[in-house]
Amino acid sequence: MTVQKALVILTLILVLAVPVRAAFVTFAPESLATVSQKWSESGHADRESLSFTYWDDDDPPVIPIGCAKCHSNYAFLDFLGEIGDTPGEVDREPLVGSVVSCTTCHNPTAHTMTQVMFPSGAEVTALGTEATCLICHQGTRAGADVDEAIAGLDVDTVSEDLSFINVHYAIAAATQWGGDTKGGYEYEGRSYVGFYEHVSGYTTCVECHDAHSLQVNPQDCTPCHYGVVDREDFIDIRVDRTDYDGDGDTEKGIAAEIATLQTALLQAIYEYAVQVVEEPIFYSPDSFPYFFALDPDDDPGPGDVHFGNRYMSWTPRLLRAAYNYQFSRKDGGNYTHNPRYVLQLLYDSLEDLGERVPVDLDPLTRP
Ligand code: HEC
Ligand code: HEC
Ligand code: HEC
Ligand code: HEC
Ligand code: HEC
Repeated sequence: MTVQKALVILTLILVLAVPVRAAFVTFAPESLATVSQKWSESGHADRESLSFTYWDDDDPPVIPIGCAKCHSNYAFLDFLGEIGDTPGEVDREPLVGSVVSCTTCHNPTAHTMTQVMFPSGAEVTALGTEATCLICHQGTRAGADVDEAIAGLDVDTVSEDLSFINVHYAIAAATQWGGDTKGGYEYEGRSYVGFYEHVSGYTTCVECHDAHSLQVNPQDCTPCHYGVVDREDFIDIRVDRTDYDGDGDTEKGIAAEIATLQTALLQAIYEYAVQVVEEPIFYSPDSFPYFFALDPDDDPGPGDVHFGNRYMSWTPRLLRAAYNYQFSRKDGGNYTHNPRYVLQLLYDSLEDLGERVPVDLDPLTRP
């Protein structure tokens, strides 16, 4: 047998292995014990996490209505209409002390739900078992919130009425639906890619993520993405050979293209703040509200980064760029959830800031 023939046969075996494996999983349900064990080790079950303890010391210890559906099992069931009065609203006082539990995702409403509304007001339809994931992983804001805040203001004039608008965390669904649900700040006159289909069989949240452990199994990807052996390899996956960041390297992962544009955008944000606003700005990824009135050249330490130092000299142009930058930072899986949507947002924010500060767009390609 020639090497070529052997390779063709090997490829066929690998490709066939995908549906065979999927069929095996469908016909051999996991035991309750296995499912429960996986769930108990996941972030959804982590009772100590800030996501589920943040309001414990409040007096009284209840979660604000606007925050509750994603941070409490009781409030989620209330939102679905399983308890309380109005579906789509949280009617009862959301108590602290719950996590994302079995009943969050396994109840009559969750099992039959096929559509979910996003913060932009856009509704996505024809959903399957992944519908619940979309409710909590859609973020809390949309590009339209930025437009509303900056309406009627001069684009380069500081306004006291503006403050940072944060899309929130783990926003995978907002990334995946892209221009269909408009989670990013979309510039006028530009078009944006919508839902990222990826490939049949690996399109929905739970086709890639185990619904209980939440992990993605690298071996599922190996047949098509050669060299993916463990979790660290996800960020090296590359199919699209366009050199978006213009560095001549199209072998590195698509995640690295996104990273270069992120670095360039943050640099442009810093330049704009100094040159146009004349008030330096500093980004700290782990501290709310993320943008601070500090000079990055002074190398700010943790002690400088606090709410009292939050940035308050926003212009509309700065705010929309910062919103998109944060959007690109708060989904650590964006390179696999919808790489081209994120690249478009970063490119357009760079171009917009480039009207006032030097930005070299020539080497870059907009998807
Ligand atoms: C009721 C809200 C809610 C629902 C429904 C929900 N999540 Fe989450 N998810 C969260 C919260 C909150 C966290 C953060 C947990 C933490 O901080 O420990 C999280 C964390 C995660 C993580 C990060 C990994 C980890 O272990 O922390 C992944 C991946 C994830 N969810 C995927 C999903 C998928 C897939 C679905 C649907 C099957 C889903 N989520 C449904 C609220 C939700
Ligand atoms: C649409 C669902 C949703 C809503 C509404 C929501 N959150 Fe969250 N929040 C999440 C998810 C998902 C995470 C998990 C992020 C992660 O761990 O990666 C999270 C994480 C957090 C965290 C932990 C951040 C950290 O650093 O670990 C805090 C604090 C928080 N949210 C506060 C709030 C507040 C305050 C509100 C209301 C103003 C709110 N959330 C509304 C989905 C939501
Ligand atoms: C974040 C949402 C979520 C949570 C929390 C959750 N499940 Fe599931 N569960 C799902 C989804 C989605 C599926 C279907 C998976 C699929 O379509 O591949 C599922 C499937 C199952 C199945 C069928 C398994 C199989 O292999 O066919 C069982 C049994 C199950 N869940 C039990 C539980 C139990 C028990 C808990 C709590 C310990 C739990 N689930 C928590 C979302 C969830
Ligand atoms: C059946 C083949 C197949 C499987 C299995 C598969 N993918 Fe893909 N993947 C593709 C194709 C085809 C593309 C290109 C899609 C496009 O550009 O629209 C792609 C694109 C990607 C990209 C973006 C790469 C780029 O350059 O734009 C990432 C990241 C990715 N896949 C991750 C995964 C992960 C993680 C898994 C495993 C859970 C997986 N894929 C499983 C076929 C597959
Ligand atoms: C093509 C496969 C694929 C699909 C579809 C997919 N994810 Fe992911 N997701 C990944 C991979 C790969 C990672 C990175 C995981 C890692 O590093 O272990 C990830 C990461 C995440 C994270 C963690 C992000 C962080 O900041 O660390 C969350 C939360 C998440 N996904 C939720 C979802 C939800 C919700 C959906 C559906 C709206 C979804 N994912 C659809 C492959 C996928």
